[in-house]
Amino acid sequence: MDAKKHVANFGAGPAKLPRSVLLEAQKELVDYKGLGISVLEMSHRTSDFSKIIKTAENCLRELLNIPGNYKVIFLQGGGSGQFSGIPLNLIGLKEARCADYVVTGAWSAKAAKEAEKYAKVNLVHPKLSSYTKIPDPSTWNLNPDASYIYYCANETVHGVEFDFVPDVGKAVLVCDMSSNFLSRPVDVSKFGVIFAGAQKNVGCAGVTVVIVREDLLGFALKECPIVLDYKVQVENSSLYNTPPCYSIYIMGLVLEWIKNNGGAMAMDKFSQIKSQMIYDIIDKSNGFYVCPVEKKSRSRMNVPFRIGSIKGDEALEKEFLDKAVENNMISLKGHRSVGGIRASLYNAVTMEDVEKLAMFMKSFMKMHPKQT
Ligand SMILES: Cc1ncc(COP(=O)(O)O)c(C=O)c1O
Repeated sequence: MDAKKHVANFGAGPAKLPRSVLLEAQKELVDYKGLGISVLEMSHRTSDFSKIIKTAENCLRELLNIPGNYKVIFLQGGGSGQFSGIPLNLIGLKEARCADYVVTGAWSAKAAKEAEKYAKVNLVHPKLSSYTKIPDPSTWNLNPDASYIYYCANETVHGVEFDFVPDVGKAVLVCDMSSNFLSRPVDVSKFGVIFAGAQKNVGCAGVTVVIVREDLLGFALKECPIVLDYKVQVENSSLYNTPPCYSIYIMGLVLEWIKNNGGAMAMDKFSQIKSQMIYDIIDKSNGFYVCPVEKKSRSRMNVPFRIGSIKGDEALEKEFLDKAVENNMISLKGHRSVGGIRASLYNAVTMEDVEKLAMFMKSFMKMHPKQT
């Protein structure tokens, strides 16, 4: 591709995919490995598709070192589908039908609201006035009768990320890892269920990965839609109904790419370097750029910031976004609920992309000396 046309995509999801994955998919689009058909046209009941889905699962197991007593399923319905899937499958674990929710941003708040349809929801800490930090776990008020404890490892809208796994003893820990999945190693054995939509770090939209400990299967409420029933999907190797075949294929290619690029550990190192580059500019900008998130809880994946002041100067922010687009840097607009700017730096976002953004931020600041 001509260098002038290089577009740096900082979208929060669906997000950038590795270029080599796109080229591979392009090469195989019309004729998959000499079969004369596309994966888009392939029956999910064929041995060829079985190979695609098995290879993706094995690669995921290897990358995350998933213990043998955990099942992996690939579902439709997105992360939001799992906001219902989690209570529908797990609330029946205990008679009290309560669940503990740690609400640190928009996505865990939505998950807790959805769970209220099926469960008594206990918010483990008082509602936060702004989503800019993670309350100390020592202050959490956990309910011993809760069927599970739920949190979101990375809040995509607010840029708040856990840099630790909460210690909940023997309780069932559930985590939404949609926006930092495979961006760092994870000790899967600490969790009951992990889920993640693929469209940020591991593929395109359409497929959601669910990793579930096998002793948690078989507790679904009778009202649970069958396609969300973990036990049914496990027993059918994610093929109870037609799965999102092409999205699974793309995810397989991305997982392979992660493996060939050093795995979860390398992704973590890379994410730290990329995000630090942007946070350093923010912190050294004399208040021109402001990130509202407490340093300890800043996300390596989604860097939100305002320009001009903590509340943001909307005219200045618009100018920043317009100029960024002129320079082929896209999707930097903050989520509509919070405004400002958000740079999403998922696995496929290159160092070159981030360096380009960093240079742009510095030059934009120089163009507006009065504000600093
Ligand atoms: C952390 C997190 N959880 C859940 C979701 C919802 O995912 P979906 O849109 O696939 O339902 C998102 C979407 O951006 C997200 O960022």
